Amino acid sequence: MSNPRKFFVGGNWKMNGDKAAIDGIIEFMKKGPLNPNTEVVVGCPQCYLMYTRQNMPEEIGVAAQNCYKAAKGAFTGEISPAMIKDCGCHWVILGHSERRNVFGEPDQLISEKVGHALEAGLKVIPCIGEKLEERESNRTEEVVFAQLKALLPNISDWSRVVIAYEPVWAIGTGKTATPEQAQDVHAKLRHWLRENVNAEVADSCRIIYGGSVTPANCAELAKMGDIDGFLVGGASLKPDFVNIINARG
Ligand code: PGA
Repeated sequence: MSNPRKFFVGGNWKMNGDKAAIDGIIEFMKKGPLNPNTEVVVGCPQCYLMYTRQNMPEEIGVAAQNCYKAAKGAFTGEISPAMIKDCGCHWVILGHSERRNVFGEPDQLISEKVGHALEAGLKVIPCIGEKLEERESNRTEEVVFAQLKALLPNISDWSRVVIAYEPVWAIGTGKTATPEQAQDVHAKLRHWLRENVNAEVADSCRIIYGGSVTPANCAELAKMGDIDGFLVGGASLKPDFVNIINARG
């Protein structure tokens, strides 16, 4: 049976780039060629959302890397889903491990942000993943299930959710999870969705892998049945990103 879920590749530029660098990324994205069967979204710094949206080919989605859980108000330094939409963008990445671990965002706040972003009409990439010590003490499942469970009450529309599983020990470290390690967690997450949401969501929700994905390892990862794409940090800034987008032939 062929996989019913459209392959999805997100780029997460993090706090990198300036207009000149973004022009370079746009150039290699335009040149492609990009597999039309892959959905592509790039996550750019908030101040460049409008610039990126205006210059990136239309078929490539543009995501913010964070947002707050309210439409407007006295929240200095924050941006709202309404503002992201006003910049012409339809996506937001939430709960990235750097938000969780560098900025201390807890599960509950991330869940509320996901809920508000969905209510406001955005598509959302919530990120989950275990730390090295959690994996080494056999707590991976416990940790990722708890992160997913915290999101559950605020997910009003699963068709606009793409879950990113990103083991913290693999992010930016060059230590990619093996295809078997990643597949194992993805299959467990899908099973969890089947038990705790329903079969339709379990079958249709994209679960993408992130953590040191490169052109060299993406093809093997893309072959795994429960890996529906990638969230790519460092490699999304380079022309090689095109090869990752095309990982599933
Ligand atoms: P990396 O980052 O590909 O640079 O490891 C992945 C991510 O943080 O989404």
